[in-house]
Amino acid sequence: MEFKDPASYTDLKQGKIKHIDFRIAVDFSTHTLDVTAQYQLQEPVHGSLYLDSYKLDLKEAHARGRKLEWEFDLRDDILGERLHLKGLQGDSIFTLTFRTSSDARALQWLNASQTAGGNFPFLYSQCQAVHARSIFPCQDTPSVRFTYSAEVEVPQGLVAALAAEQVQVREGSGQTVFAYRMPQPIPSYLFALAVGNLEFQELGPRTGIYAEPETIKAAAWEFAENETKIIEAEKLLGPYLWGRYDLLILPPSFPYGGMENPRLTFLSPTAILGTRSYTSLITHELAHAWTGNLVTNATWQDFWLNEGWTTYAETRITEILEGKDVEQLHAVYDEKRLMEVIEQIGMDSPLTALKLPADEKDADSFTTIIPYYKGSFFLNECEVAVGRERFDVFIHKYMTKFQFQSLTTEAFLDFLKEELPVVFEKVDVHKWIYEPGMPKADTWHRPKSALYAEAKRVLDDYQKGVKPAREQVQNWHRYQILAFLQGLPGKISIADCRYYDELFELEKKNDIAFFSHFYVICITSGHQEILPRIEQFMEKFGRMLYVLPVLRTMIATDWSRGYARPLFERVRSRQHQITVSALERLLKDAGL
Ligand code: BES
Ligand code: ZN
Repeated sequence: MEFKDPASYTDLKQGKIKHIDFRIAVDFSTHTLDVTAQYQLQEPVHGSLYLDSYKLDLKEAHARGRKLEWEFDLRDDILGERLHLKGLQGDSIFTLTFRTSSDARALQWLNASQTAGGNFPFLYSQCQAVHARSIFPCQDTPSVRFTYSAEVEVPQGLVAALAAEQVQVREGSGQTVFAYRMPQPIPSYLFALAVGNLEFQELGPRTGIYAEPETIKAAAWEFAENETKIIEAEKLLGPYLWGRYDLLILPPSFPYGGMENPRLTFLSPTAILGTRSYTSLITHELAHAWTGNLVTNATWQDFWLNEGWTTYAETRITEILEGKDVEQLHAVYDEKRLMEVIEQIGMDSPLTALKLPADEKDADSFTTIIPYYKGSFFLNECEVAVGRERFDVFIHKYMTKFQFQSLTTEAFLDFLKEELPVVFEKVDVHKWIYEPGMPKADTWHRPKSALYAEAKRVLDDYQKGVKPAREQVQNWHRYQILAFLQGLPGKISIADCRYYDELFELEKKNDIAFFSHFYVICITSGHQEILPRIEQFMEKFGRMLYVLPVLRTMIATDWSRGYARPLFERVRSRQHQITVSALERLLKDAGL
């Protein structure tokens, strides 16, 4: 099957990387990694090999003792530089020595003051979607998989945690070397490392947590149920093939809620609420161990195969752990967000289809929640069309047949047609996958929830002038509060902003999703006193899903527009580059 990944310079006809052995020295004083990497190819390669790279300083290239010629012969702001290795003579092994840039897009170097403990620096990587190339030259497309080993040298006292299996720790003079191996083949976007003052705590036989000593106790309590989750996930998706499932708690500037790095989910500390009420995030990242990490989208145009499937799996596991109505409560809230985003992008925009347009190479800029929820609702339609029992058999077959492979939407549809042809009679598959917007509301099974209905009643009362009393909401599920905040009119009185702030004890709850909804309402309602809290929020949190809407609303609202750029400039040095680029894009698009 021929396809081209528009986000990569890779030419699959030249050959594929099979394995990499890394030696990495971490230098906190220069914010760089010094790396030697030995590459093994699937087949011997003759002539040229194109690799993706981003601001890498390549020092040497060798194959079997011979110096290799190379050139960075193409350049693009998003794709980075094409590293053209020349004159391979049937070589299947070559070695590159290089240094990463201090602005490597995948790496965030934090100074001690940006960590929980405040005494040690911290480094972590985020490679999805196209940032692995800023750490090492590679075929940075999810259609190529490789195994690897890595020896990582860090200053003594710090710990290197990789999304791989730890095999050895050696103390040197002033340094510690951590040896890891990843025996299962992964796409480049799942390479991940972090270095910091990390402790490890067991949770269960296969589960544990890495975190700074200051947060480990709270994290271990919050996620104590991870082992149970794996057991439930295995029933739905088949055996867990990655060995361990550990978590790494990152500082709050992490741009995502979680990242499904294999064996080691990278997690935002915003998931630690002290109530275990936000562990759906873990369900999501854990489900990726199958949908995404085991069976992988071939290009970022097929991103819904990763995220739509994972969100669907998340709903199924949530249903088992928390009941159907809670799962549907999540889904009602998610459907509303989905519709808002589709309207914001434009009902007719190709960016709202599940299969994304191929002329788009900036995978980060077209990442929205659409593939998550539209994808999950589509898969639910498939399930309803054939019944749960048959669909569950299909899921197992899908996971087994495509394990450790990458596939396109089209390959998935061929498989669906072969296994469950009835789906195509009952569901307008083409419309769901290739057309923009959403199918009409009466043509699919929209979520319904009694818990949601309760929140809606209180919202309706408010529209009639009756505000809820503390007793009415104090036992609400977290998602009822979210649905309530989501359902409030865009503009309310300043007195009511203050009322809801108190009613839901928002400061005390310290929930990033509550903050995000609430600050958006405060901005549109002209509650100017809220600005210092928004500044604190933007200084601390990097999670884009919640930070972007706040800045977007500031930009869209007359009174706050003038504050947007200066606020961004004050917080930018504390944010990850991925977040900085996204915030910068919002401001530039608005001419600010
Ligand atoms: N794989 C994604 C994060 C991601 C997406 C990183 C695209 C880079 C590019 C992760 O699994 C995810 O979806 N995280 C969500 C949380 C989820 C519960 C919706 C997030 O970060 O908000
Ligand atoms: Zn995901």
